[in-house]
Amino acid sequence: MIRLLYLSHAASTISEEQVQEILLSSRRNNSASSITGILVHGGGLFMQVLEGPESDVLRKYVKILDDPRHSGAQILCISPVKNRIFEKWSMGGIASDPLQFQHIATLRARRLEVIDENTFTETMREFAQRLRSPQ
Ligand SMILES: Cc1cc2nc3c(=O)[nH]c(=O)nc-3n(C[C@H](O)[C@H](O)[C@H](O)COP(=O)(O)O)c2cc1C
Repeated sequence: MIRLLYLSHAASTISEEQVQEILLSSRRNNSASSITGILVHGGGLFMQVLEGPESDVLRKYVKILDDPRHSGAQILCISPVKNRIFEKWSMGGIASDPLQFQHIATLRARRLEVIDENTFTETMREFAQRLRSPQ
């Protein structure tokens, strides 16, 4: 199993309804392919965590890359994992203002270095705590 974290730029025309549509289709599709994760959006950015079997996650990521509702995706972290952080969410959604992207920006600033596994896991656990109810 792997966990993949990426950041992308939302299309400038994207509406709140479109983000909700993305979440709805993600939940439907991901439950079928045993992918879990979260989608954080705000300040013109998306950040998504996808976790699950390696081939499923990579196939899904490649599909998502083609979606015109965002662009410029950059993988921040990809690692083999034993456990899921978002096991209860086929795709949790978090609306985040630009300031709340601070943690992610920190991770991005270090993208050329090895991201400390604990920093990453802690940041993800904070996100998991902010998801109020399982989807
Ligand atoms: C930022 C972003 C994240 C997405 N995340 C997922 C996802 O986790 N799972 C998924 O199936 N589709 C996701 N999508 C949508 C896919 O790009 C694609 O539209 C969808 O899988 C097609 O679903 P359909 O075949 O049911 O129409 C995402 C799109 C964007 C822009």
